[in-house]
Amino acid sequence: MQARRWLQRGLALAASVPLIAACEFSGPQSALDPAGPVAQAQKDLFLWTFWLSLPVMIGVFGALIYALWRFRAKDAKGAAEVPHQTHGNLRLELAWTIIPVILVVLVAVPTVRTIFATEQRVTPGPDDVVVHATGYQWWFKFEYTGLGFTTANELIIPVGQRVVMSLDSADVLHSFWVPNLAGKRDMIPNQDNQIWFVADRPGTYFGQCAELCLGAHAYMRFRVIAMERPDYDGWVAAFQGAADARPAAVDPLVERGKALAAQKGCVGCHVIEGFHPTVRVGNPDFPDLTNFGLRTTVGAAIADNTPENLAAWLRDPQSMKPGNTMPTLWTAADPNREDEIEAIAAYLLSLGRDPATTAQAIVGGAHGGQ
Ligand code: CUA
Repeated sequence: MQARRWLQRGLALAASVPLIAACEFSGPQSALDPAGPVAQAQKDLFLWTFWLSLPVMIGVFGALIYALWRFRAKDAKGAAEVPHQTHGNLRLELAWTIIPVILVVLVAVPTVRTIFATEQRVTPGPDDVVVHATGYQWWFKFEYTGLGFTTANELIIPVGQRVVMSLDSADVLHSFWVPNLAGKRDMIPNQDNQIWFVADRPGTYFGQCAELCLGAHAYMRFRVIAMERPDYDGWVAAFQGAADARPAAVDPLVERGKALAAQKGCVGCHVIEGFHPTVRVGNPDFPDLTNFGLRTTVGAAIADNTPENLAAWLRDPQSMKPGNTMPTLWTAADPNREDEIEAIAAYLLSLGRDPATTAQAIVGGAHGGQ
């Protein structure tokens, strides 16, 4: 009676495995929720291997559990007895040689086919979005080489168009990983690695550095925001326009923030296109803040880009992201700290939000598409 109940429980558990596996693990950072053909091919391969392995697991564990139960010693006499010994069984040995060979072939052929379909190096064509990505401790630089501008931590792409990325690192090993769009690819200093993918639908896809790179590795995040073509064109236009000197800001708070960005040394590190009509500011080895008002996040995608979060970041970057190289610009005793932070945050958030562009609407659309 007892044994029968256990058998029933075992069968119920085995039956629930396919149900669990059938759930859609959807989300903005899930390899099981593909948003493009590369991730789809990888998911299909994973599921094929999974369903092939499941009967093997059930068979092996089932046989093991059956043997443990069926041939257990039932009393002291049984425990002392040596069971009947056998040697060699041609049929069994043929079976456990041939079946694994068939299984390996069934896994290997689609694996090799998927590798060739998704991992092969491509030569970017005129219709591709070409981006050179560099990993830094602990953020990502994205250079749109064909379009002539640079941004950080947020990769904006058009839906349905191939994105071809060359991957590099400025310091240690990093790894570029957007699970919804494609598998991981390492970013290695002085090695020209490549990854390419297509997003089928608009949305915000979360990325993460997937190679332990010390310090703030866990906070080395990024986003890929896929937009419909007209929205993407508007975003590109906003960046290409940023290279020109803009008319001086009219908001006095923004004006003060811009002056402080120079006084406090922000533009000593950060590039801001259009900051000065003739002088280029900043150092390309720090996150480019051009059109920062269009970003959805601060601190390499660790917090939403709101005035409060930006102020918290400026006030004490180490408390938000321990280990990062951004200096703390004020002491707690500085009487002007909060005013100055407010002004700089207002200035940074105004960047790219030129009423002449549709940029602000683009950011709203990107949030909505998630
Ligand atoms: Cu970069 Cu982990």
